[in-house]
Parts: sequence; structure tokens; C-alpha cells
Amino acid sequence: MKLADNKATLSFSNGTPSVDLPVYHGNVGPDVVDIRKLYAQTGMFTYDPGFLSTASCQSAITYIDGDKGELLYRGYPIEQLATNCDFMETCHLLLYGNLPDAAGKANFTQRVSNHTMVNEQMQFFLRGFRRDAHPMAIMTGLVGALSAFYHDSTDINNPEHREISAIRLIAKMPTLVAMAYKYSAGQPYMYPKNNLSYAGNFMHMMFATPCEEYVVNPVIERALDRIFVLHADHEQNASTSTVRLCGSSGTNPFAAIAAGVACLWGPAHGGANEACLNMLEDIQKMGGISKVGQFMEQVKDKNSGVKLMGFGHRVYKNYDPRAKLMQETCKEVLTALGLENDPLFKLAMALEKIALEDDYFVQRKLYPNVDFYSGIVQRAIGIPVSLFTAIFALARTVGWIAQLNEMIGDPEYKIGRPRQLFTGSVKRDVMPIAQR
Ligand code: CMC
Repeated sequence: MKLADNKATLSFSNGTPSVDLPVYHGNVGPDVVDIRKLYAQTGMFTYDPGFLSTASCQSAITYIDGDKGELLYRGYPIEQLATNCDFMETCHLLLYGNLPDAAGKANFTQRVSNHTMVNEQMQFFLRGFRRDAHPMAIMTGLVGALSAFYHDSTDINNPEHREISAIRLIAKMPTLVAMAYKYSAGQPYMYPKNNLSYAGNFMHMMFATPCEEYVVNPVIERALDRIFVLHADHEQNASTSTVRLCGSSGTNPFAAIAAGVACLWGPAHGGANEACLNMLEDIQKMGGISKVGQFMEQVKDKNSGVKLMGFGHRVYKNYDPRAKLMQETCKEVLTALGLENDPLFKLAMALEKIALEDDYFVQRKLYPNVDFYSGIVQRAIGIPVSLFTAIFALARTVGWIAQLNEMIGDPEYKIGRPRQLFTGSVKRDVMPIAQR
């Protein structure tokens, strides 16, 4: 963060003296006005619900140029990472800032593999849930519960604890997601197989049974790995900011990540992949492509409450680069599985085409986001719709931890404590109950 030559001057029309505010340059992207001393100088707060104009922190991990539709992890374009690197390399990059060489990758992968099992007691904890519980309800509970199982890595201020909890979380998320699935399916849990890749091991824990040998399909393995890479981080989105805010109180990393999982669940965020697939299935039931026009009229009607799920983004005002890559993967997977004529894929393409040409979407710069095609890929792979957001959480865990660790290491970090514009009742006296 570099102090800019210019400064911002805030003046008031009521005679209050104006104040000068420092401006900082990042390495790329908009400058920021430093308002930290504003309250001390003027007795006023700034007002920015939804953080439309507020940088909540400085970060060197992920950069998005929403107008260009560009996403960089540690400076590397997502397109290059998705085609040249796998998820383990991406995790290393996000956590430590550099892409590993072959030996570094083998070492990191080995460290993650060493922690893929979860405490055996975890399955008894899981049994407390109803079989039909939503996987995100289970995941919020299980991730939070990790802090009860791994007492030796809960001190957020201890770098060794942060490191081991980071590795544990990355390693155990696939195991927990697969356990949540097996529990709902009534099938035995499958222990991890550490000779498989990260994605291959996840597929094994999801789809293998003790009765027969399971062979990992390399096309699906690559597709899942790509889903993980594309979802690994996305700068200061709602769940990441939740993790930072939660962690800023000094709570343990497992608790902070559990908060992120809970936030991700919402349909405006990670829950959009599930909501998007349900939407496509509903349109299909209504009559499919022939009903797209009618559905779009509902979307454009503000009173209907209907949104085109998988479309729009707070930051991207152009095509989400992850959506392009996901569409490519979608085609690959459907072809490999002989599902080229998948009606939902055709429906999604038709919806996208109409939306991209429609004035409502053009004017508001609404484009497909990562969730638009990811559900179709996951459904083709055999992942149940209700598990989609849990897969997103699995992949985003590395981003959450990288951001949390970055915050703890930032000398400017303080407990997050937003202020408010109070609009409630001013001070008043409690009346005796008979007089109220
Ligand atoms: N369908 C119809 N209209 C939309 C949509 C949509 N999907 N998204 C935004 N709009 C309209 C919105 O009604 C508003 O119109 P107006 O200016 O007339 O009031 C305008 O576009 C601006 O939208 P906004 O709600 O002010 O934008 P936001 O930045 O607050 O919300 C969003 C961003 C992602 C929550 C929103 O676009 C949305 O709800 N999309 C659908 C859910 C979705 O796909 N979420 C996944 C996001 S990407 C993955 C992730 O972050 O997890």
C-alpha cells in the first residue's frame, strides 16, 4: 500500500471545517481513501451498507477486474491456472504466494495426504443429524466441531497452529463432504485413499462402496479438479469477509471457517449453484426451451421475486471468466459421459443466449457467473443437487484460510467492528406494565 501524491478533501456545506484524507495506491485497481481518522476528526461515520464502496482490508492474494472480467490468483490469470495447474498447486499458490516446483508440490501434497482422515469419533457426531438434513447444515456443524477434535491447532496467533490447521482443513473437507453424502445415502463411509489425487480421492470417498473396486474416471477427475481451482478464492466476497470478521475476534481457525461455510450457504452466494439447477429443472418441467420467454418475463418483473440464478455479480460487469471455463468443462464432461444432448445444458445455453441479448440484462451488465454451468457439470458427475454448495465450500476453504492467515499477519488488523446510523427510538423511560 503506497501513499499517493494526492489526497482527498471532504468538505461540508454547514460550515464544519473540511478534512484531508490520505489516498493509497494498490498495485493495480482503484485507489482507496483512508477514512480511519474520520470519526476522530469529525465525529461522523461513513455509511456503506453492503460495502459498495468500501475496501475492508489490504490483500495480496486475489485480484478481480470486474469490467474486464479478469480474475488473478497471486497475479496468475485463472485461465492459465485452470489449464496448467491442478488444485494442489493452486492451494500452495494461495497459501504461500508461489507456485511450487515438482519437489515442492510433492511435499505439499504429501503433507495434505497425511491429514485426510478425520477423528473416528466424528462419525458419531454426524449420527446426531437427521438423514435428510441439508449437507450445508451438516457441514456447518462438522467444520465447527473440528475445533473440538483438534485442540492442538486452535491458537490463531501461533503460526505453527495456523499452518497445521490450514493443512488439516484442506485435507479433511473432502472427507467431511463425502461423509455427509454417505450418511444421507445410508451407505458406509469410505476411508480416504492417499495414493489417489485430491479430486480422485474425493470421488472414491463419494462413489466407491466396500463391495466393489472403484475406478476413477480421469475426465471426471479433471473436471472436479477444475471446479476446485475455479472456486478456490474470490477476494473479499461475503463468506471470506465473514471468515475475516469472525477470525478478527481471535477465535480458532475451525470456528472461523465454519462461519464462512454458513455464509456461503445463502442463494445469493454459494447456494446459487443449487438454486440455479433447481431453476433449470423447474423450467424444464414447465415445458423447457419453449417456456424460456415466459420465464424471462417473470425475471424482469420486479414484483415476481424471480431472479435468473447463476446470473449477475457484484464485481463482474462482464462475463465471469470462471463461467467460460466452466462451460468448457461442461461440454467436455457431457461428451465424455455420452450426455451431449442433455436437455438442461441445452436449456442453459438457450437462457444464456436470450439473456445476453435482452435489454434488461445488457443495461444492468448481467452475465453468467460461475454457478450457471457448475451445477450441470456436478449433476452429470452424479453429485446430488443438495451437495453442490458443500463442494463449493470444500474448494473455497483454501481461500478462506489464506485470507484469514493474511489478516492475522497484517500489522494493521484489528477486531472488525462496524458502526451504524441509529434510526430507532431515542432514550425513553420504561412505564409500569399497567400503564403501557
Ligand atoms: N436476475 C434478475 N435481475 C438481476 C439479477 C438476476 N440474477 N441480478 C441482479 N439483477 C438486477 C437487480 O434486480 C438490480 O436491478 P435494478 O437496478 O433494476 O434494481 C440490478 O440487476 C443490480 O443488481 P443488485 O442486486 O443491486 O446487485 P448486487 O451486486 O447487490 O447483487 C448478486 C449481486 C450476485 C447477489 C445478484 O446478481 C444475484 O442475486 N444473482 C443471482 C444469484 C447468483 O447467481 N449468485 C451467485 C454469485 S457468483 C458466486 C458467488 O458469489 O458465490
